[in-house]
Amino acid sequence: MDIEFAELVKKGLSAKNKYLSSLYFYDDYGSQLFQMITKLPEYYLTKCEYEIFETQKDKILKSFLGTDDNFNLIELGSGDGHKTKVLLNYIIEKEVDFVYKPNDISIEALDSLDKILKEEFKLIKIEKLVGNYHKVLDQIEFSKEKNIVLFLGSNIGNFNYQKSINFFKFISSKLKKEDLFLVGFDLKKDPKIISNAYNDSQGITEAFNLNILTRINNEFGADFDINNFSFYSYYNPETMEYKSYIISNKKQNVNISKLEFEVDFEYGESIFTELSQKFDLERINDMASKSGLKIKDQFYDCRSYFVDILFEKI
Ligand code: AVJ
Repeated sequence: MDIEFAELVKKGLSAKNKYLSSLYFYDDYGSQLFQMITKLPEYYLTKCEYEIFETQKDKILKSFLGTDDNFNLIELGSGDGHKTKVLLNYIIEKEVDFVYKPNDISIEALDSLDKILKEEFKLIKIEKLVGNYHKVLDQIEFSKEKNIVLFLGSNIGNFNYQKSINFFKFISSKLKKEDLFLVGFDLKKDPKIISNAYNDSQGITEAFNLNILTRINNEFGADFDINNFSFYSYYNPETMEYKSYIISNKKQNVNISKLEFEVDFEYGESIFTELSQKFDLERINDMASKSGLKIKDQFYDCRSYFVDILFEKI
């Protein structure tokens, strides 16, 4: 049993305002659903970052290299690596010596990425890092070669303000002077565009959220009837927070047998599932300065919907 997940379920579902965490969206099925989301026409984030890599790969690689001729590329939460492949392919083409170290919670996603890179890209220097970011970063030896850490796709948006600063501080504490940190941020924009990205017509985002209840059913013997729950989300343009919830469609009781735990839901009651924070440069600069990082370079897509920022240590 995943003890941390079990603790979260017990704590989160007994709180006054119920909550779970999007960290647990990504079992193998959840990772598949997320990959489907990235291909939805409404979900612009992945497409913007893909465009940035496609159009600015030469600038990005030049920034990566500086005066060095090799590096380790550590990608946190790589998933299927769809957009990273553009960059990897270019680095291979330029015959730069590098080791790619993708990290993800999903073994399935990592294995398929590893297979594609070996077969199609003939990239042999791959080190798969399975598990959560913190454990993985603690295992890596940061003292040797130049390390470049990638945290793409606005994954940082899942952290609230304090957690994002703690995370930046943690990364900053790991980096040496010449190391770099590339982060993808989804930017503030017309709220309707943001809202559409999370309210797809095919209901995949809803399934992605509800999958966490299915996981609780499978892993802890719960009897959530998924048909009695639905998805609701909204954007607050003042705080730039996009928040997702699971809503109980009726008064109901759920039994989670393996945790010896029962939960009551009122009609209309919510479970907060995910924060997808949006950013502007003021906030990004603030996060950097509070964690001992500074901006080295910025790469925008043509509509300025998204930015990849390269940080270095102060
Ligand atoms: C992978 C965390 C960036 O917040 O946009 C997609 C996950 N949630 N649709 C996001 C997600 C709903 C995504 N991140």
